[in-house]
Amino acid sequence: MKKEGKLFGVGVGPGDPELITVKAVRVIKEADIIFTAASTKNTYSLAVEIASPYISVSAKIEKLSFPMTKDVKKVEAAWIHNAKQIAAVLKQGKKAVFLTLGDPTTYSTFGYILKKMKCIMPEADIETIPGITSFHAASARLNRILVEGEESLLVTSGAYGGDGIRHINGVENVAIVKAYKNIQDINKALKETGLDNKSVAVSKCGRKKEQIIRDFDELEKRSPDYWTLILASK
Ligand SMILES: C[S@@+](CC[C@H](N)C(=O)[O-])C[C@H]1O[C@@H](n2cnc3c(N)ncnc32)[C@H](O)[C@@H]1O
Repeated sequence: MKKEGKLFGVGVGPGDPELITVKAVRVIKEADIIFTAASTKNTYSLAVEIASPYISVSAKIEKLSFPMTKDVKKVEAAWIHNAKQIAAVLKQGKKAVFLTLGDPTTYSTFGYILKKMKCIMPEADIETIPGITSFHAASARLNRILVEGEESLLVTSGAYGGDGIRHINGVENVAIVKAYKNIQDINKALKETGLDNKSVAVSKCGRKKEQIIRDFDELEKRSPDYWTLILASK
């Protein structure tokens, strides 16, 4: 009987090439094919760049396109198309790696792949290898404790502005990713909720143009940077 392949969802950390696990390195080295997400506008993959020292010369690199659109039908069609490509490779008995920045279970394209793979190929052998998230890398970069004692931490998306933090009770610490074009409203919400005193934004953490910004009124005036996250505490 022909052996089926295996899919690994691998996190390579948020930017610093040394923030990758030993397990991720081994799995990448053993892969026959490396999949990664690319937007239809930009095919450059930082995840591939980080993993490149470990990718075997014989491994194929396949960029899967994930359209940046709110058109649900188009997005759904792309996820299914991508999952089918991966399923075809597994049926050839190959070891495939789907690379993601940060951690694959945290706001990651791997989540969409995982869901579709479960429908298209329920018998598929899949293993997720965790990665260091952007907010863990940022708190470490700042020597800042993310959460301690009996406190709680809310990890939320800023894609819809500050509403993710406006109505929280009993949460002492927040990490906001995907703040992007919504800094103004998030800044307003931080002030409304008393989370503004110790707030800090980190852009391109661990990457060449990394920036740490503590003055949020100044941050509002900058051109939005997608690779920005906010840490805030009461
Ligand atoms: C789609 S989410 C991916 C999260 C990622 N899987 C993780 O584990 O952190 C993208 C958001 O993560 C944050 N992010 C990812 N890498 C970052 C970095 N190097 N510096 C700052 N923020 C980063 C930004 O807020 C960005 O908008």
